[in-house]
Amino acid sequence: MAIFNLNINGTSKQVDVDPTTPMLWVLRDHLDLVGTKFGCGIAQCGACTIHLDGNAMRSCQLPVSAVADSKITTIEGLSEQGDHPVQQAWLEHDVPQCGYCQAGQIMSAAALLASNPNPSDTDIDNAMNGNICRCGTYTRIKAAIKTASQKL
Ligand code: FES
Ligand code: FES
Repeated sequence: MAIFNLNINGTSKQVDVDPTTPMLWVLRDHLDLVGTKFGCGIAQCGACTIHLDGNAMRSCQLPVSAVADSKITTIEGLSEQGDHPVQQAWLEHDVPQCGYCQAGQIMSAAALLASNPNPSDTDIDNAMNGNICRCGTYTRIKAAIKTASQKL
């Protein structure tokens, strides 16, 4: 075990965990930030997506020892009132079905728009390619990203 000081959603958090512990489990089991979901555990579905210094990362394959100097953002910290332009667009388009994948989808979309505020269809497809939705909400996700890009 080792102590790590983490910057999560703008606040400092200290955890005492095995250095190999994936951030997904640090967030969920040690910090009670359960908006980040476990899907596959092998970086293939995107349900666990968080931001690391603004970039979308799969937290299930990200050891806590690799993030100590980084700024981490989870779905809980994306906006104070749940009103990030991506979240607003998600509501407008009524995107979710079961909802399980949606935190990861929103985090990937927000990271895309932060680096590319006016993405083409291909840009969106490339950025969202690793986020799987078993309910098939892909058409609404793409429309919501376009709406969010207009809000930005
Ligand atoms: S749980 Fe991390 S990519 Fe699937
Ligand atoms: S909304 Fe059900 S898995 Fe995506």
